[in-house]
Amino acid sequence: MSAPTANAGAAAGHTAAALPRTAGGAVLLDGKMVAARVRAAVAARAARFAARHGRRPGLAVVQVGEDPASSVYVRNKRSSSQEAGIESFAHDLPVSTSEGQILALINALNHDERVDGILVQLPLPAGVDTNRVMDAVDPVKDVDGFHPLNTGLLAQKRPRLRPCTPLGVIRLAQEYGLALPGLRATVVGASNIVGRPLALELLLARATVTVCHTGTRDLRAEVERAELLVAAVGKAGPGDWIRPGAAVFDVGINRTASGKLVGDVEFERAAERAGWITPVPGGLGPMTIAMLLSNAVDAACLRTGTPV
Ligand code: GUN
Repeated sequence: MSAPTANAGAAAGHTAAALPRTAGGAVLLDGKMVAARVRAAVAARAARFAARHGRRPGLAVVQVGEDPASSVYVRNKRSSSQEAGIESFAHDLPVSTSEGQILALINALNHDERVDGILVQLPLPAGVDTNRVMDAVDPVKDVDGFHPLNTGLLAQKRPRLRPCTPLGVIRLAQEYGLALPGLRATVVGASNIVGRPLALELLLARATVTVCHTGTRDLRAEVERAELLVAAVGKAGPGDWIRPGAAVFDVGINRTASGKLVGDVEFERAAERAGWITPVPGGLGPMTIAMLLSNAVDAACLRTGTPV
């Protein structure tokens, strides 16, 4: 069994020797840099779309309530859209909004010709049926890739609109030349947003995939076997479980008692063992937003039959 092979750095714009590394020697998977590259390509595509159609691609971002973390993400999504030449339609609804009112807004956005993509920020307030709301989004405008039709298409090896964080993991791995086929890839966390679709993405990329969840008997043993590890559980895990030379993708964002942002993997100890590792912040956070913008332009092209 071997660690991931990689033509590391070629696509990331460095020679392998010049790649930024942690003190322990792991290559830092620079999501901020790769996301900037993705956003520049999206902006060029959005400009071509606008020249052809006389309007910019449109992305509606809906927030219900004022969850502080959601408000930060939503603000970021809206400002990044504008910067990439995507029209941002903001819908901020009070926490008291009924499910019926949310569904009515989605129905209106589904029929709005200026809107190519619809994102409903999760979590929704207690009492709102999340599945009902997400299922109401027109699959062709589903820039989150959460609609069962888009999930099903991904499961059947014919992806259309794909969940943003999983797509960000794959894109980041590709940019650093990490060879995924055959790789023993382990995803910790089985959420609908990250873990499950990521397992499908890794399978599509021909990795050998394990998904760990609350029913997993020996999490440590599973992590120790992983040549590529994705941590998406929302709580800290020990860095010394990491297999030497492994590629570590940390999707977690947690705030410590002192206010520092950290991921799901204990970074310093993991970085002493890993071959590649994402920082938090600056790893998958920026990649998720970049892939959302890419999906918004994809959705605009899909809907209008534009070959961009
Ligand atoms: N909440 C946390 N991550 C996400 C995401 O990727 N999409 C949406 N809609 N809500 C989220």
